[in-house]
Amino acid sequence: MQSRKSPLPRYYQLKEIMREKVTSGDWKPGDLIPSERELGEQYGISRMTARQALTELVNEGLFYREQGKGTFVSRNKITQQLIRLTGFTEDISARGQAPATRVLSMHMIPATEDLAERLRLHVGQPIFRLQRLRLADNEPLAIERSHLSFIGCERLLDEDLETQSLYRILESRYGIQLIQAEQELEAGLTNEEDAKLLNLPMGSPALYTRRTTYTNRDLPIEYARSVYCGHKYTFYTHMLRNQLVP
Ligand code: GLP
Repeated sequence: MQSRKSPLPRYYQLKEIMREKVTSGDWKPGDLIPSERELGEQYGISRMTARQALTELVNEGLFYREQGKGTFVSRNKITQQLIRLTGFTEDISARGQAPATRVLSMHMIPATEDLAERLRLHVGQPIFRLQRLRLADNEPLAIERSHLSFIGCERLLDEDLETQSLYRILESRYGIQLIQAEQELEAGLTNEEDAKLLNLPMGSPALYTRRTTYTNRDLPIEYARSVYCGHKYTFYTHMLRNQLVP
């Protein structure tokens, strides 16, 4: 480590050293970072200082932690374009990765007040609720909690949603045209349940989205709340100064 005379705090110096290791390719995406103890010994600093440097780089997204395994260099983030309406399967495939799904639960529920408002229904009307863990190259990436309502939506209970894309099923099997969606993004920290499913320590940075998807008749068809691993996902928007507001 640089001299003790350096005016920069030591955790900061360590951060820059580690950042440089990633930029230079010395440490590659997916590589395990030395532990706090190892860093402490190697650079003659306390474990606390090493921890601070690691934590900040985790928060910045350069590293990520896996419960019981250690800290790793983040892989290139998956980018979701916020212009074209695409589904998870399309987003992941477009990056040359293999999408996969674990259905956590699916059943019919009566619309709550909030869901009824979002899907423009009456309270108590039946809704198909689907909870899925979404993976890319076998790594958990997001949890998606979808709510769908259309005539005959209970038939979705018989679909194989582990191997098939929901958007594809809707379009090809039910003839439902997905035309547009509105989506909100919010930063947050994972709760215990989500952290466990995503294989992250509780309280890890996450991106929360709420998406309402509409069919050609401008009717909401799906309302989904999702949580994405913060260190693996980027949302991208392209903005035009002179764009007309629709
Ligand atoms: C996105 C949306 C969800 C939607 C899903 C469909 O990730 N946030 O609202 O249900 O895509 O993905 P797929 O077609 O792969 O099932």
